[in-house]
This record gives sequence, structure tokens and C-alpha cells, in this order.
Amino acid sequence: MKDSLYDKLNQELSQQIAMHMPGHKRNASLAPYLQGLRADIDITEIKGFDNLHAAQGILKEGMDKAAKLWGAHQSFYLVNGSTGGILAGIRALTRRGDKIMMQRSCHMSVYHSVALYGLNPVYLYSDVMKDCGIEVSLDTERLLECLDANPDARLLVVCSPSYEGILSDLNDIVKAAHERGIKVLVDAAHGAHLGLSSCFAAGALSSKADIVVHSLHKTLPSLTQTAIAHAADAKTALSLAEQLDVFQTSSPSYLLMASIDGCIRLLEHSGKALMTQWQHALLAFKNSVADLEHLRILGQKELPCGVWAQDMSKIVIITSDTRISGYELADMLRNQYGIETELASDCFVLAQTGLGDTKQSLHSLAQALIGIDSGLSRGKPTAAKPLPQTEAVLPAYEALDLPYLLTPHSAALDKICAEYLVLYPPGIPLLVPGERISSEVLQMLKGKAAQVRSKSKNDLGVIATLHL
Ligand SMILES: Cc1ncc(COP(=O)(O)O)c(C=O)c1O
Repeated sequence: MKDSLYDKLNQELSQQIAMHMPGHKRNASLAPYLQGLRADIDITEIKGFDNLHAAQGILKEGMDKAAKLWGAHQSFYLVNGSTGGILAGIRALTRRGDKIMMQRSCHMSVYHSVALYGLNPVYLYSDVMKDCGIEVSLDTERLLECLDANPDARLLVVCSPSYEGILSDLNDIVKAAHERGIKVLVDAAHGAHLGLSSCFAAGALSSKADIVVHSLHKTLPSLTQTAIAHAADAKTALSLAEQLDVFQTSSPSYLLMASIDGCIRLLEHSGKALMTQWQHALLAFKNSVADLEHLRILGQKELPCGVWAQDMSKIVIITSDTRISGYELADMLRNQYGIETELASDCFVLAQTGLGDTKQSLHSLAQALIGIDSGLSRGKPTAAKPLPQTEAVLPAYEALDLPYLLTPHSAALDKICAEYLVLYPPGIPLLVPGERISSEVLQMLKGKAAQVRSKSKNDLGVIATLHL
């Protein structure tokens, strides 16, 4: 077996004097942080180490391995997360001004693509589970209606699995879109681990979507920011490569790429065994928490209504039958048990697991939940509301170019929003630039200032509205 990129960096760099970037000159003895962060092997493209934007050597070999592993025509390393892959992928599959269909719950990178390329979105809304507010799978019937009503759409963007691990029936979805000549990009940022072993659900690649984007860093052992984009055919791969030149840095970090290369090799050689260990740890966790009295684990007893399938690696703990919120549960886990979770909301906490988890880490989570549960009492069930449907008055790309005012919430009703009002969690825009501010939206914003990210820093009680 050939050396990994990590081995090559370790073996070959120590013999050279660096008269090239970066400015630390691989001199890790300059300061402890450089040593800790392995500045001695931190390079960007130099001779002998290939070139991400025209890969022919060790990077190409790694990307070919990735394509084989996931089943793509061609795969590309991403050093700017799935965000970069989605920006490039949507650009590769559309022309300026195109109509695209997208789930309203898409990640902000999809919205940014829409605004950047002057696209016209048709939104697909999904129902939410009443006890936790988590969106169910994309309804195939509803999608078919929308596809038939929009035969001129160029692209469909679907997210599966979602942040909370909800899967949609990608095979049917992609088939239906392709039959109508519509391309599909799947944001599978949360599903890089799927389809690699029988322990977990099938992955997005098996649907034959034109482009699939995976964050390696979310569920697999690879450094933060690392991701991978897969193209289904040669023409798509060519367009994607062209756009990745636009959206990826011209100085990709070899630390990040060595981590991608290492992750792919690890999956190739021990992926199935490691996935089996992970699955066993998850099953042991689920057994341990089977008798919780007040807290509930999403999908523990049955698949929630409207959910096509669930990724078992996501542990969603629902608090809606108790007197505590998801935020309070997250605080208890942090303060009493030293467990930091991925996200919290009014009615749930998401504990994210990954290939690096151990039986012990999941055992600790189970014990903490059992301990907390024993001290809880039953509360009045809370009911979550779906995100309000919105009215677009202007396309986002036009609204973003117009002057705006900061308007107090009390005077914002019916004005046109000039910013993205994004609720974290779930990281989905309540409003997009160019949409009308409704009473439902203002109602939802009440008491949620800390959860909103917006250019008007919504904690000031103002919203950027168009100055028409
Ligand atoms: C659904 C979804 N897509 C895309 C992204 C972007 O991924 P990355 O952080 O790798 O850029 C995220 C990030 O959380 C996400 O939740």
C-alpha cells in the first residue's frame, strides 16, 4: 500500500528548507501553538504534493479512492465544508435566473447560492412532529405535485438526512425529478457515514442524484471543515470542478487534506469493523435508556409518523412531556455530567454520535439521562408549530441590493424584510430578503431574540426592512 498523505508530509518535509508559504516556515519551535497544531507539516501546494485544483498525484489517488468507496463517478475534496460544495454544486447545475425547487428547511448555503446566482426558488414545505417541532421526511406525493406544477425548474435541492437524522426516500425523489428532466443535488452533509456498511441506512449516492455533498467532519473521523462532493457523471464532474475553483481557496490546507486522506484509508481498511462497533455502542445505549419515564428518545419505540426512515446515529432526546425545556436538559447534561451536546431547542436535545464514539461515551450519556430522568416529573405536553409559510414580494437577489432601514418589531408588520432572519436551531430562515413580515413571523420572533442570527442583530428588537 502506498504511503498516506500524512506519512508523506512527515517523511519528506523534514528534509527540506522551506522558502515558501506559510510564514511560520514549518518552524514549530517558534511557539507552543505551532507545535501543538503540527505546523511542521502544514503546507499548501508545493512540488511533489499535487495540486487540489488540477489533481494528478496523491490527491487524485485519494479522490479516486473516495469515489470508489461511496460509489460516485468522481469525488472532490472540500476544505471549506459542505458549504463550499453546495455553493459550487448548485452553480454547476444551474444558469443565472433559473427556477429551482428546494426544501424551505435547506441550509443557509443553499439560500446564499440562490441569491448569488439570481435563482428563483419554489419552496417545498414539510410537516413537523407536534411534540418536538422536528421536520418529517419530504413527502413524495407533495413533491410530485410540485414537480408537475413546475416543469421549467432546472434543479431540485433536497437535504437528507436532516440535522436531526430524518431521511427522505431519495430513490423515488431523484427518479421522479430525473423523469422530468430536473437535476438533483442532495445535501447529505449529515450522512457521510451512510451506505458504507449494512449497520446504517443506505447513502444518498445510491439514488443517482447528480451531485451529493457530504461533510466528513460531522460524523466521520476527519478534521472540522473537511467534506467531499460527489458527481454522478463526467459532464457534471467537469462543471463541478470548474465551480470548485471559484469557491475553494487557492491555498488548501494539507493538514485538512491529510485528514481527509487518512479518513478515507481508515474507512477502506477498517470501516466495516468500526461501523459495527459504533452500531453496537448505539444499540447498547438504546437498550439502557429503554425505560426512561419522562424523557423520550425519538424513534425509540416506532418510526415517527411521516418519517420515511431515521439515521440511528442521531440521538434526539425529547423533553416535551416534562417540565424542562431542551435548553434546560442541555444545561443539566453540561453542568452535572460534563456532556456537551450538539444542539438544544424548546422541546429536544440532539446528542450527535460519530465513528469516534465509544461504548463508554454512549454509556456515560445513557447514565446521565437515566439520572436526570429519575428527578423529573411529568409536565403538560408542549406542542411545536411548523415554520410559517411566507410571501415573497421580491427575489432575494434584488432585495439584497436595495437600501434598508432598521425597523422596530412593533412597526414591522407587512413591511418587506431586507435580511435573512435565521432561527438557530434549527438554522432555517424564518424570513428571506424580499419576503413580507407577517404577524405569525413576529409572533415567532417573540422571546427568541437570542436564537436569531441576522444583520440587524435581532436582540435590539429591530428588523432590517426595505426602504422602498
Ligand atoms: C443540512 C446542512 N447542510 C450543510 C451544512 C454545511 O456544512 P459544513 O459545516 O460542512 O459547511 C450544514 C451545517 O451544519 C447542515 O446542517
